[in-house]
Amino acid sequence: MSGVTVKARAKLNLSLDVLGRRPDGFHDLCMVMQSCTLADDVYVESAAPGDYLAQTNRSYIPTGDKNVAVKAARAYYAALGREGGAHMRITKRIPVCAGLGGGSSDAAAVLLALNELHGGALDSAALQAAALAAGSDVPFCLMGGTALAEGRGELLTPLPKLPETDTVICMPYFSCSTPELFGRIDSRRSRCHPDTAGLIAALEAGDVRGVAQRMYNVFEDALGKRAANTVQEIKLQLLDNGALGAAMSGSGSAVFGLFPDAESAAKAYEAVRPLCREVFLARTD
Ligand code: C5P
Repeated sequence: MSGVTVKARAKLNLSLDVLGRRPDGFHDLCMVMQSCTLADDVYVESAAPGDYLAQTNRSYIPTGDKNVAVKAARAYYAALGREGGAHMRITKRIPVCAGLGGGSSDAAAVLLALNELHGGALDSAALQAAALAAGSDVPFCLMGGTALAEGRGELLTPLPKLPETDTVICMPYFSCSTPELFGRIDSRRSRCHPDTAGLIAALEAGDVRGVAQRMYNVFEDALGKRAANTVQEIKLQLLDNGALGAAMSGSGSAVFGLFPDAESAAKAYEAVRPLCREVFLARTD
């Protein structure tokens, strides 16, 4: 049987707030999420029962059960209630461990591809449940667009779409550990919180500038000193070069800015390059 290719788009956190730790060890979150054009390509074909393999163009990414794409394929067949197998070939462009939902987005693409291969056998509620089994950000990645994500990240409310906006996405030379950052948030009170209601009101008004000015991520407050300095330096460089607003995405370390036009984004892209391992020009979509 031939396979199916699906685009796996990166997600940006227009805001991220951590409300508290839950009895199950996860945290209740309140995030405004946005998909963008920076994307991996995920090719999926059916394989013999029990045969799962996810190959990528990054040699350090595990190919077996530790790969979230394999977790998603297993979750798909568990939801379908039958034995299955899948071979996946993923062309990665989204940086890994960046807070851009790269793995989650690949997982969502695997679910969509398998469902296409199986003639839409799972309805959207079953797909969403399989998505959450693969990871907290996978349900949003399945949906895309602009949405409020609450709970673990799976309680999704679609929001008015952010008008297509140019963005510069910056990957510093370091990565952050997600559990470590959650741990730091638990051990002290966050001083600043995003104005989520104001951000949503700006989305409702189609006011990109108002959205950009309200972007904030509480994890920026939980970074170690050196990481915090670098993130701050990148944000300032973006703002000095015309960004309407800038924030870290997810648990970092990627930082992005929203721009009024492609010209200012291109200028900021050049300015920020010396500070970063990788920089991308993209658009929200
Ligand atoms: O669900 P996912 O595998 O993406 O989560 C990775 C880690 O992030 C979890 O093991 C947990 O430590 C933390 N997490 C959390 N609360 C969430 C999402 C993730 O504590 N809502």
